[in-house]
Amino acid sequence: MANDVPDAEPFSEKLRVPEALTFDDVLLRPMESHVEPDDADVSTRVSTNVALNTPVLSAAMDTVTEGGMAIGMARQGGLGVLHRNMTIDEMVVEIERVKRADELIIRRENVVTASPDQTVREVDAMMEREGVSGAPVVDDNDTVLGIISGTDIRPYLEVGESDEVRKAMTDEVITAPEDVTARDALELMYDHKIERVPIVDDADRLVGLVTMQGILQRREHENAARDAAGRLRCGVAVGPFEDDRAVAADEAGADVLFIDCAHAHNRNVIDSAREICELVDADVVVGNVGTPEAAAAVVDFADGIKVGIGPGSICTTRVVTGAGMPQITAVAGVADVASEHDVPVIADGGIRYSGDAIKAIAAGADAVMLGSYFAGTDEAPGRVITMNGKKYKQYRGMGSVGAMRSGGGERYLKDTDEGEEFVPEGVEAATPYKGTLESELHQLVGGMKSGMGYVGAETIPAFKERARFVRVSAAGQTEGHPHDVMITDEAPNYSPGE
Ligand code: XMP
Repeated sequence: MANDVPDAEPFSEKLRVPEALTFDDVLLRPMESHVEPDDADVSTRVSTNVALNTPVLSAAMDTVTEGGMAIGMARQGGLGVLHRNMTIDEMVVEIERVKRADELIIRRENVVTASPDQTVREVDAMMEREGVSGAPVVDDNDTVLGIISGTDIRPYLEVGESDEVRKAMTDEVITAPEDVTARDALELMYDHKIERVPIVDDADRLVGLVTMQGILQRREHENAARDAAGRLRCGVAVGPFEDDRAVAADEAGADVLFIDCAHAHNRNVIDSAREICELVDADVVVGNVGTPEAAAAVVDFADGIKVGIGPGSICTTRVVTGAGMPQITAVAGVADVASEHDVPVIADGGIRYSGDAIKAIAAGADAVMLGSYFAGTDEAPGRVITMNGKKYKQYRGMGSVGAMRSGGGERYLKDTDEGEEFVPEGVEAATPYKGTLESELHQLVGGMKSGMGYVGAETIPAFKERARFVRVSAAGQTEGHPHDVMITDEAPNYSPGE
């Protein structure tokens, strides 16, 4: 009765399908190692011309990255990508906020100055109001005449409150030229026992100010991601058809523009992204994609490729549209193409633990982008809310109804007529409040470095080359989480069901 034996072949050719894997399906194969986790070097490139000291980006989402988050990320060596649910003017303000945050030279327009014929009382009140303890004194041409500080005028021993500043100021003022380095400025400050040095041009006109406080603050962030001028790096999301936003971001000093699109493998998007690349000096990362074919379509002009079709914690793209690509397969397929052209790859979305992040790098990514992981930190926009005695912060998909209503989510918008209901591809949620970004990043990067130790690779490129995966069964996944115990104290880098 041989005919009764069912055929092992698929019923239809349509069902002869490739398998696609995600984070929980694989583990890094442990290998002989001479690398201590502390010695692992996690510096990387996010795009052809932009290096980072930490291979981590915060997502371009309105509950994750505005100026505060971007400053925090860059100070820790990573990159914040400003969301685009704001006007172009607002975006420029946020970029400038990041670029100014750790600047060595405070620029002229931001320096509080005094004029020689103000009274001591007026200047004292002005310094108090502006929160500064000293000010260069300049004439109408901005020529530096002297410098006045709290100690010159308080407690009004030698000068009266109604005396003019010219009488109270120190007129032997130590200045420096515009190309001063932090080291030179510090030497001047030590030699002359001063705390601020006005920066002047060839005609002795004020162009900026360097302060001791500013220099010490920069020293605290030795690992920071900085541009050639020493300013913090800043990423910005732009829509694929938003030439104006792209040009404004570029002019405001953004280092990397991220073409922010849910499905970049689309002829119009690619043509427009290519045009944007030609319009700007900044690097342009194109995304999101999820297949080698999509990578091949953009790799000749993109400075970086971002991967992720529906892996995000707040995404409903896969259930709403039926389309998507599990993230480890997506990253590996794109990285195969991108590496041949030496174009960096960013794995975007779906990362819950440090182990997921380092698996994404093992699959071929040069850096990872996270939303939910950072949405609960102090640096994310929005306030802390308390529900049932626990603290949370809001976290929502950029394709959620809320984000679309408040002007964003263009990335997911169909041609919705006025009054017509949105078809969202994301949800609105709350995420546990987590405290400082610094401690979250410490856990994330610490876990990634330990992963590099298990594989025996000291640098990101070496790790990408050496790492191998094993496939994990469902039972293997269960085994990998704490089991058969009741957790009594929360670990800083693990919570069940995260
Ligand atoms: P995680 O998992 O880190 O993911 O929270 C963040 C990434 O998710 C993407 N994103 C969305 N995807 N619908 C989607 O399908 C959405 O509404 C949505 N909002 C954000 C985005 O790539 C982000 O970096």
